[in-house]
Amino acid sequence: MGINKIGDKMIKIIKGDITNQETQAIVNAANTTLLGGGGVDGAIHRKAGKELLEECKKLNGCKTGEAKITKGYNLRSEYIIHTPGPVWKGGDKGESKLLENSYRNSFKLAKEYNIKTISFPSISTGVYRFPKELAAKIFKKVALEFQESFETIYMVCFDNQTYDIYKREMEK
Ligand code: APR
Repeated sequence: MGINKIGDKMIKIIKGDITNQETQAIVNAANTTLLGGGGVDGAIHRKAGKELLEECKKLNGCKTGEAKITKGYNLRSEYIIHTPGPVWKGGDKGESKLLENSYRNSFKLAKEYNIKTISFPSISTGVYRFPKELAAKIFKKVALEFQESFETIYMVCFDNQTYDIYKREMEK
């Protein structure tokens, strides 16, 4: 397991289904409507239940790179932080900055809610086709910036390839 420790503050790369995480918050790789979709967004909405969609409807969407928070409903997590990551368009349309914003704004919002344990999926690297290796570098950069403010930060990878890429990046 890829682990980065500063004192007792940990960044852990694990393989699994983020909807099973027991952290205070899990982060959803949403879209700008916040009304659900496929991938991890679909899994989170299925498990959280229809009340999540009711709360999301009141949020009036979310801009790419920004983040909004809801309750976790039927999930073990108290909160879900929804952030639309960027769609990959070749890399020269500010995608890296937008992905960085998604991580940074999610961490900032979690801090505002005094959240100490948080789980992220590999934002934008599925349907939005953001390259996994570059995404891992961006996650690592922002997670290290916020590491002191959290007990444990998890990156929950759904498949082996993603897990290997994030683990390797953390071990550099
Ligand atoms: N737990 C953890 N990770 C998951 C899960 C899960 N249950 N299901 C999928 N993933 C992983 C994918 O394998 C990928 O590595 O989440 C990562 C992000 O992939 P997507 O869910 O496709 O998200 P993204 O690439 O950001 O695209 C977002 O897809 O589902 C729609 O509504 C969503 O329009 C938005 C777009």
